[in-house]
Formats: sequence, structure tokens, C-alpha cells
Amino acid sequence: MIVVSHRGPYRFEPDGRGGWRAHRGAGGVVSALAPLLAGRDDATWVAAALGEGDRAAAAAGMTGTDGGPTLRLLDIPTGLHRMHYDVVSNATLWFLLHGLFDLPRRPRFDRRFREAWEAYAAVNAAFADAVAEVAAPGEEVLVHDYHLALVPQRLRRQRPDLAVVHFMHTPFCDEHEIRVLPVDVAASLCASLAGGPVGFHTERWATAFGRAARAVLGGPSPGVFHATFGPDPVVLAAEVDRPEVRAHLARLEEEVDDRRVIVRSDRIELSKNIVRGFLAFDTLLEDHPEWRERVTFVAMCNPSRESLIDYVAYRQEVEAVVARINDRWRRGSWTPILFDARDDHARSLAAFVRADVLLVNPVRDGLNLVALEGPLCNRRDAVLCLSREAGAFELLADGALEVHPFDVLQTAEALARALDMTPGERASRAARLRAAARGHPPESWLAALVERARRATRARGR
Ligand code: F6P
Repeated sequence: MIVVSHRGPYRFEPDGRGGWRAHRGAGGVVSALAPLLAGRDDATWVAAALGEGDRAAAAAGMTGTDGGPTLRLLDIPTGLHRMHYDVVSNATLWFLLHGLFDLPRRPRFDRRFREAWEAYAAVNAAFADAVAEVAAPGEEVLVHDYHLALVPQRLRRQRPDLAVVHFMHTPFCDEHEIRVLPVDVAASLCASLAGGPVGFHTERWATAFGRAARAVLGGPSPGVFHATFGPDPVVLAAEVDRPEVRAHLARLEEEVDDRRVIVRSDRIELSKNIVRGFLAFDTLLEDHPEWRERVTFVAMCNPSRESLIDYVAYRQEVEAVVARINDRWRRGSWTPILFDARDDHARSLAAFVRADVLLVNPVRDGLNLVALEGPLCNRRDAVLCLSREAGAFELLADGALEVHPFDVLQTAEALARALDMTPGERASRAARLRAAARGHPPESWLAALVERARRATRARGR
């Protein structure tokens, strides 16, 4: 099996003794896939070298860690990579798929964009060529996400024997939104994805893609499917039990004392709707004075994509709103929002354990693993306040409190309701959340993808 993703499972750094230290890569796809493939020394993982450590490790012939997949890191020239990753993948496709464009101003499809689009196609071609070169006859190839949307079509042309499946971890835009893209760009993306099996976490995004592709290409996309990648409860329980997590939990307990705790854990990412989440907390303190000094908002927000100005500006906005709310409400030893911008998974897990309320309020999200992992880690029957625009809402609506991501007053009232909920209702909702979160084990997801890929190859052979 070959796994293809833009970000690889590790980032390499020199260990100072002539070797390499491998750190777990950041982000949802990697944290989900890496444990699943940890014991698969028969698999190959093709990814981009990100940064100097990765490039040097790749040049020195580093091919992975013991017992795991063989790693093949592509050393893409920096300028080309920036246009592929920053301009097309993040500033255009990510914004399109999550509905983030500020349409009176952006996007602008000018000559700079056209140059970047060529770079995007070139990087996708390099990934496809690397796979075509190493794949065994008939091997399964699992391609991930919007960074590599043109890979499936090129691979199908070069190596029709391969069982290729593409999986998008994002939402998909609707048939009106896709009209923002230049006609040829929309057609290339949709044709590449629709030409083979293409999967999404939930039915909503699979249907959205089907509709958008029909609008662009004029015909149906028979290979669209959905398969949810949920957490592995056993792996998660072992992670929560690590001494590091227990130590963070002990420190957090001291900090929050016996107060109620609202938790969020996100990349500092526009689609995560972090600012409105804090404004809702501000409104909660304004409208429900009984909660002042009795609730702390623990926000684990790790910096992301800081090569893009929108993300730098968003981080400043997030930090400014935290400072304003803390200045407004702070009393004695109580700091209303404990904001932590360190990228530390163990801290997030500790916060999930201690939470009384978990706020997940994205503008739009492919799934949102936090919404599934949080209830599994938690030990206090935490209430999940969940955006109806997150893919996870399809699975968890029965146990969660619905949040309208743009409605700050509604979000504040959902937080108040969560804090006021009776122990009996909390327990029964938490049990439903845990049952739903356990229902999508990673192995079933992987099996579904492999089956789709094989089925498509069999159909072509007929
Ligand atoms: O949601 C899809 C995804 O690829 C996740 O893996 C990850 O959280 C993010 O998008 C990518 O982030 P980055 O740009 O940091 O690789």
C-alpha cells in the first residue's frame, strides 16, 4: 500500500550525533494515519519534505522509523512549493472548501495565480511520478486531500493497473461556490477527483462534491463515497494515561481549582471560528453574572500556516480578544481565559480529561476529530457544544448541544445551558457521545478505502 499526503508522519531534525530525531507531524490527517500505519513496514508513505531538517534527512537517505512505513520525502524547490502550498492549496482551495472568501476583495485570479496554478500542477505531477516509479503492479494507492487533487488523474493515465483512491479530509463547497474558480481550474479539479473513487468523512460533503462536480462537468460522479475516520479508543486511552498527560492534568487542576472548565483545542485557523467562540464566552459572563469567577475557559490554540498573512492577522485578532475579555472580567486569582498557544498534544489531552464543556464551533469542517476525541478522553461527562457545520455533527447530533457558528448569542446560550445541565442529562448525553465516537474505528475506514480502490480497478478491467 502507498499513502500519499502533503505532510508526512514525522518532521526530522538533526539529533546532534550525526543521526535524526523524528517528531510527530502536525495536523489531523497525520495524527490519524500515523498510528494506523505504525506497524506497516510493507507500506510506503510519499510526502513533501517540509523545512531544512526534512530536506537534509531525505538527502541523507532517511527512509522512516523502525517497523513503520518506508518514507519517501520529495524535495520540492522552495519557490514552487510556496506557490503550491500557500497560494493554491491554502489561500485558494482551503478558503473555497470552507467558505472563507471575502468575495468583494478575494480571490483574485491574476497572473500570479496562474503561475501558482502551474506550480500546483507541477507539484502534483511530481507526487504522481514518484508513486508511479515505486508502486508494485496493482498496488493500492491512497491519496489525501486538496493539496494533491490532480494526482489521481495523472496516476490513472500513467499506471492504469494501480488501485487509486482519493480521500478529502475537508468539506466540499456547493455548486454555487465552485463557480468562483476559473472555469478550467474547476474542471481540472473536479475531473481528477470524479474520475475515480473519491471519499469524504460524511455524507453531506460527499453529496456537496457530487453536486458541484455535476455543475462543472455536466454528468454524475459514480465513485463518490463517505467513510468516517474516527479515533481509536484503545490508542487514545493509552495516550491519556501517559505520565506527561497526567502531569499536565495535575497542573491544570491546580490552576482552575474547583471552577467549571470550558475547553477548546484547535489550530489557529480561520475556519475554526475561535474569535466568535471567545465573544460567546464574553456574552455568557455578561448575561449570566452567576458564572463570573466560577468558570474558566481553557483554550489550547496552536499556531498554523504563519507564512500566510491572513493567519498572522487572525492570531493577532484572537490574542487581542483574549486580552480584552481577561481585562474586562479578571477578579482576584481568577483569569477567565487561559490561552495556550504552544503546540502540545499532551496538554490538549489533559484539558479534554478535565473539561466540563467542550466548545467546537467551526464555520465549516470536514469532520473535526476533537469533537470525537474529547468525549472519549473526558472523565466528567462533559457537554459538547458542537457547530452544526462540522462533519462530526452528523454523527454526534444526538448527544451534543447544537451551536450556530455565526450566532454569538445562541452560542453563549448553548454554553450557559451546558454549564447548567443536570448531572443526569450530562451523563446520558456523554454516554451517547462516547458510543457514537467509538463507532468509526480507523481500521474500518482504511478497509473501506482499500475496498473502493480495488472495486474501481476491477470495474476498469471488465
Ligand atoms: O483537514 C485536512 C488537513 O489536511 C488536516 O490534516 C490538517 O489539520 C490540515 O488540513 C492541514 O494543515 P497543514 O496546512 O498544517 O498541513
